[in-house]
Amino acid sequence: MPLARSLSVTSLSGLEEWDEEFDLEDAVLFEIAWEVANKVGGIYTVIQTKARLTAEEWGENYFLVGPYVESNVRTQVELIEPTNPILKRTIDKMNSSGCKFAAQSEDPPHIVAHFHEWLAGLGLVLCRERQLSIATIFTTHATLLGRYLCAGNVDFYNNLAKFNVDKEAGDRQIYHRYCLERAATHCAHVFTTVSQITAIEAEHLLKRKPDVITPNGLNVKKFQAVHEFQNLHAQSKNRIQEFVRGHFYGQLDFNMDKCLFLFIAGRYEFSNKGADLFLEALARLNYLLRVNHSDVTVIAFFIMPARTNNFNVETLKGQAVRKQLWDTAQTVKERFGKKLYESLLHGQLPDVSKMLDKEDFTIMKRAIFATQRQSQPPVCTHNMLEDNGDPILNSVRRIGLFNSSSDRVKIIFHPEFLSSTSPLLPMDYEEFVRGCHIGVFPSYYEPWGYTPAECTVMGIPSISTNLSGFGCFMEEHIADPSAYGIYILDRRYRGVDESCNQLTSYLFQFCKQSRRQRIIQRNRTERLSDLLDWNIIYLHTTGFRYPRPASVPPSPALSRHSSPRHSEGEDNDEDERYDEDVEAEKDRLNIRQPTSLPFKNKLSLSQTTSGDEESVTSDKN
Ligand code: UDP
Ligand code: G6P
Ligand code: GLC
Repeated sequence: MPLARSLSVTSLSGLEEWDEEFDLEDAVLFEIAWEVANKVGGIYTVIQTKARLTAEEWGENYFLVGPYVESNVRTQVELIEPTNPILKRTIDKMNSSGCKFAAQSEDPPHIVAHFHEWLAGLGLVLCRERQLSIATIFTTHATLLGRYLCAGNVDFYNNLAKFNVDKEAGDRQIYHRYCLERAATHCAHVFTTVSQITAIEAEHLLKRKPDVITPNGLNVKKFQAVHEFQNLHAQSKNRIQEFVRGHFYGQLDFNMDKCLFLFIAGRYEFSNKGADLFLEALARLNYLLRVNHSDVTVIAFFIMPARTNNFNVETLKGQAVRKQLWDTAQTVKERFGKKLYESLLHGQLPDVSKMLDKEDFTIMKRAIFATQRQSQPPVCTHNMLEDNGDPILNSVRRIGLFNSSSDRVKIIFHPEFLSSTSPLLPMDYEEFVRGCHIGVFPSYYEPWGYTPAECTVMGIPSISTNLSGFGCFMEEHIADPSAYGIYILDRRYRGVDESCNQLTSYLFQFCKQSRRQRIIQRNRTERLSDLLDWNIIYLHTTGFRYPRPASVPPSPALSRHSSPRHSEGEDNDEDERYDEDVEAEKDRLNIRQPTSLPFKNKLSLSQTTSGDEESVTSDKN
């Protein structure tokens, strides 16, 4: 583990510095966040994916502290008695006295407390105010003011140095929270954030430069289904297709085999997450696909939780109709099978024209009749509480993408996080991502952005931006990100309209890819997953750069939108099988790239223009 084994601290203006060096072996680590066992957004993912590794490192001396939410405790927490006597005494004391804090011991252990985000930051401020002997770390995953300013259509990045921060916070009625955040920032012995771009923001808006940048990793083993991820894609895609069959019942006039699933997901921050840009680009894509007579249909999912009053009737009906058709087909199949069986028992070949009788036809006609619909397939799957003011729905109204037959781009807004227990789309988020073709995250404000990172480790291409921590990280460390299915939109140096055109172009090019090209691209994307493992991500400071894949031309002009190279007849099934065979053979011979590329063995990577995908030279000295 690349964890420093002794703690050194930075200077704090006006506050007492930490002047003691202690061995972390004997220390106790508390990690405190509102999102401990409490899913709100990406901070939950930070903690959840890092927990196992941290526990391996700190053992019994690692404690996570979060809010007590009964439903979360029931589903995510295993209740145990603490083994540490000091901790036990403390908890007993807290319980008996209504949750007051008392760290009482003659020989207290060294304590490191890591606070995430301003909500937990209050604890840090109180630790300092009460002069507790605790080494404190504060990690901010965004700045409050930054989030608010960006959501308010401010030209944020060009004015970072100019904001009158106190006034801006006051104007937005977040002054008290902003003060808490700033206090935690300045009280912490060590201040960190998740990306370079947020470090600059913090320096300007919180007036302290982070001491360390700690990019967010993932627990790659959890996501990486070695050798299987292509199959998992196909399986999950089938399940999404089933949902789509139900949702579009009565209007299934498009070829499901030529249907691409795009999605955006995350907390519902309409413009910060770039849902505005995505919708506009979808409108342009729809136009391009129509005028080019494309046979591709795009279904764009918006998975962003909003206030709702459950699923709407029309959406539920769609799945019921689909189920009914399936049941009807099974009934008729069974009746057909019985007649066939009888005929064979009598030593006769069946008279096919008599295999279906009147009753069979009546059953089928009735089922088909139920698929007639008077309205278009709904855009939104739920009853929205604020339907009229909802920014996604209002944009859909403006661009007119109402899932009509003639549209090549259809929209499904699912204003709730996904769950495998849903009666509508019973898939968890990971399964859903695997079944999609590309994740689209054109964020304007995104300190890190887990969603494209998660796509990567599942071998699903994604679009992020050079205003997101993840996008910048990949741009910095990969020679030709788009060749790996990591498309990084320029939202920093281009105007909105230009960025939108760029996004439209990425999407249109993606729609033009053959199945074979998509399979190759997914293989490449998945190859990057190790880069994002918690074990490895911190080694990025060594200045590595992942080389361009073999088959991409070296010229920057050609590789700008590089997608896997074409070949004749690439679309047919034989080619697909060939590709799968190659993969299987690679597995059999064990000639895949090692899973812990490229860092564990100190591999030195030189950016290659030879186009040789495996030209990674080992330097174990
Ligand atoms: N997510 C989820 N279920 C969903 C959609 C998203 O659990 O249906 C998770 C996703 O896995 C990701 C997180 O929400 O880890 C969003 O984190 P991100 O860093 O992208 O953005 P944030 O919401 O923190 O701004
Ligand atoms: C995976 C599967 C293939 C399937 C393909 C579909 O690669 O292993 O059997 O044909 O996915 O890819 P697509 O991009 O069309 O969903
Ligand atoms: C915040 C940011 C997001 C980041 C996450 C985890 O919620 O909005 O970009 O990925 O924290 O650091």
